Amino acid sequence: MRIAISTGGGDAPGLNAVIRAATLSAIGRGWTVLGIKRGYAGLLGEDEVVPLTAESVRGIAHLGGTILRTTNRGNPFGFPVQQKDGSWKEVDRSGELIENARNLGIQALISIGGDGSLAIAQRLVEKGMRIVGVPKTIDNDVSGTVTTFGFDTAVTTAIEAIDKLHTTAESHDRVMVLEVMGRDAGFIALHSGVSGTADVILIPEIPWKLEHVCEAVMERDRSGRKFAIIVVAEGAAEQGGVASIIGESMPGQNRRVGGIAQRLAKSIQDRTGKECRSMVLGHLQRGGMPTGYDRLLATRFGGAATQAVADGKWGHMVALQTPHIVTVPITEALAVAKRVDPDHDVVQTARRIGISFGDR
Ligand code: F6P
Repeated sequence: MRIAISTGGGDAPGLNAVIRAATLSAIGRGWTVLGIKRGYAGLLGEDEVVPLTAESVRGIAHLGGTILRTTNRGNPFGFPVQQKDGSWKEVDRSGELIENARNLGIQALISIGGDGSLAIAQRLVEKGMRIVGVPKTIDNDVSGTVTTFGFDTAVTTAIEAIDKLHTTAESHDRVMVLEVMGRDAGFIALHSGVSGTADVILIPEIPWKLEHVCEAVMERDRSGRKFAIIVVAEGAAEQGGVASIIGESMPGQNRRVGGIAQRLAKSIQDRTGKECRSMVLGHLQRGGMPTGYDRLLATRFGGAATQAVADGKWGHMVALQTPHIVTVPITEALAVAKRVDPDHDVVQTARRIGISFGDR
């Protein structure tokens, strides 16, 4: 049996641990393993295909990033190709990809990615490719699995930042607004905000009003707590508004959202007269060593993906349904977007302990 592994979409701490576990468990079955570099690009002649051996995956479980590299511009069904006049056109190169995989003798692919990569995997399965998915995202926004690896590391990074902002905010009686990742889902903001004891948490799932945010800050001020910490997800928006787009995306990429922390800090300062500062945590959340939790989950996912290949579970992804690792159809996982449930106990608990979501 000859299998291949690829990593697509934004990177997440734990990718290397999945690659290592999938490779070692496949080798343990007597299979050979290829690594497709940079998402699907390696199967389109745009990057390399390399052998993965026990030697090549040695010492990588604790490393962030991905030894196979990645891209969020590599959709083979709409591959961005630059034209002679400099403009970009999306071209369907899926047939070429399948042909190249066949010529390389690849009998099955383990595709590690978020909702975008999994949707591509599903379309390739429908065209006859044998693929098993492994869900990945620091945003934790893939349904069908309790959590994805990378999320715990991102939350840990955000908590560290909040802890550090606390001491300086308190020293200066300032309001600090921290922007964390989460284009469509507010899990990072919610979990880090509650664990880091923020005063206000703003997420895409609960649109807020500036007056409520300012009231939370001023109420705290009146009680003698002169500083405040606000954690805002990059995709969060005011009631009746939309998330702000920041910068230009590259062709084939998702829209880039962000900049909310800076705008919010200015609005709060203008309205309350309190000194406000902002900070964007950005890609720091995607880097660094995976936490022990993420390493273990990623390793379990890698081992389970090889088992799913052995079981012929094409079009399925591995998933955590505590305490078990199971497989679920990718179509089922993608049918419903995973978002923070405003009635979830973490939100309710936050409200009970006085954290404002700016909506009331
Ligand atoms: O999808 C995960 C994510 O972390 C989003 O929260 C964020 O908007 C996006 O990746 C940014 O990706 P990049 O900057 O790599 O395009």
